Amino acid sequence: ASVKVTKVCCIGAGYVGGPTCAVIALKCPHIQVTIVDLNQARVDAWNSPDFDLPIYEPGLVDVVKQARGRNLFFSTDVDKGIQEADLIFVSVNTPTKKSGVGAGFAADLNYVELATRRIAAVAHSSKIVVEKSTVPCRTAESMRTILEANSRPGCRFDILSNPEFLAEGTAIADLFSPDRVLIGSLQSPEGKAACESLAEVYANWVPKERILTVGLWSSELSKLAANAMLAQRISSINALSAICEATGANIDEVAHAIGFDSRIGPKFLRASVGFGGSCFQKDILNLVYLSESLHLPQVAAYWRQVVEMNEYQKHRFSKTVVDTLFNTITGKHIAVLGFAFKADTGDTRESPAITLVRDFLSERAYVTIYDPKVDDVQIWLDLAEACPNVPLENIKKQVTIARSSLEACKNKEAVVIATEWKEFREIDWQTVYEHMNKPAFVFDGRMIVDADVLKKIGFKVKVIGRGD
Ligand code: NAD
Ligand code: UGA
Repeated sequence: ASVKVTKVCCIGAGYVGGPTCAVIALKCPHIQVTIVDLNQARVDAWNSPDFDLPIYEPGLVDVVKQARGRNLFFSTDVDKGIQEADLIFVSVNTPTKKSGVGAGFAADLNYVELATRRIAAVAHSSKIVVEKSTVPCRTAESMRTILEANSRPGCRFDILSNPEFLAEGTAIADLFSPDRVLIGSLQSPEGKAACESLAEVYANWVPKERILTVGLWSSELSKLAANAMLAQRISSINALSAICEATGANIDEVAHAIGFDSRIGPKFLRASVGFGGSCFQKDILNLVYLSESLHLPQVAAYWRQVVEMNEYQKHRFSKTVVDTLFNTITGKHIAVLGFAFKADTGDTRESPAITLVRDFLSERAYVTIYDPKVDDVQIWLDLAEACPNVPLENIKKQVTIARSSLEACKNKEAVVIATEWKEFREIDWQTVYEHMNKPAFVFDGRMIVDADVLKKIGFKVKVIGRGD
């Protein structure tokens, strides 16, 4: 029979663990939820009296305000969290490996393994252990081996895969009404019972027909597959945007036209300066690595091309900027609007804006960045990492950070839109134009400006995927 879950622990208080388990606490007042993390500063921010949380997500503060201190707790006491819980989410980071076997492709499973070992080392009672992190296919097997080899007598561990499909910027809405919740388990009676225990937690707010239960390996692979297919759509539309620019077709119209085919559908077809975010690239590379280790080189090459097209798109865009500004931007002043990888988040991981700024710096341009949510400290960290051979003080001679779009654009030759923040749709372009050097250029990497209106004001405009 399945265990009724009353205490949940989540290891990892990041972009996934934090919002996901805060929503579980909100929707299940009868369950005590403790989110633990080794990072003291992060936990302190989750606990901050004025709700100055470590991540920005629309609606998140409201959720935390309602549940924190009631049945939602944040702590650095990982061991106590593990010991008290009957169900444990492992929601730690799984970045791309930087060195060793599979460097640049394979997922670094060190954090997952350390968390798993900790569970085995300190648990006094049986637990359901849930993989929330995105992991390569068959990671649950390794977790089970580690848990079984290190557990105390009488402690049983059932392992589930429950990948997360939320997108940043809409995390709370996605968690409140997910398209689906996916739970993978072994098809043994124990595995199925554990699966039912977790399904019951979600059933507090997710309609039963949206809770899908499958085998462990299918669940793990479905997560990589979903991200790969989403990213593939973006690379496909971006590849077409290059054709549009060369022919005078308009990618917005093309996307609209093909999206009307109900088999293709209208979503996720927005051409852009390239996709960013911590997961798409990482998960595809992970799939490439998996395919190669399974001796499937054609499959690996197929998925690798999705990432290559994305790299091409980012550099193609910065090249358009250089070409249009009379083939040189040396000594020129460029405003970059947006630094986050998408709107409504302060997250900059793999943001295309970083690549653009790096390209502009290597052409020795001066760059001024404005983003409504990204901290200055983060911008400096990202640029230092992107330009490892340039001392930060030299980067700071070429880059400034502005507090508004208008301030960023003043006395510049060109404006580059890198993130689709709503406030950039509402820019008073007439005023911006008056303050810019002439000829004034706008490069829109997110298709948010009305090119005709801007041209009437006097701007020279290039919009991604438009030939005119
Ligand atoms: P993150 O880096 O924001 O958070 C991970 C947290 O885990 C960090 O705060 C880290 O300190 C903590 N941690 C690492 N090892 C630990 C340990 N042994 N004990 C306690 N704490 C530990 O990462 P994230 O963006 O939340 O992603 C987590 C996982 O979820 C990844 O596998 C990612 O691929 C996946 N995912 C992310 C998203 C997203 O939108 N960011 C969406 C779906 C899935
Ligand atoms: C993505 C997936 O959408 C989530 O389902 C998944 O859970 C998550 O990855 C993950 O595994 O981490 P996320 O990266 O947060 O979520 O954001 P997306 O909305 O998918 O956007 C990713 C990137 O693609 C952004 O840079 C965005 O600007 C870009 N994008 C998106 C486009 O260029 N065009 C589009 O049509 C859509």
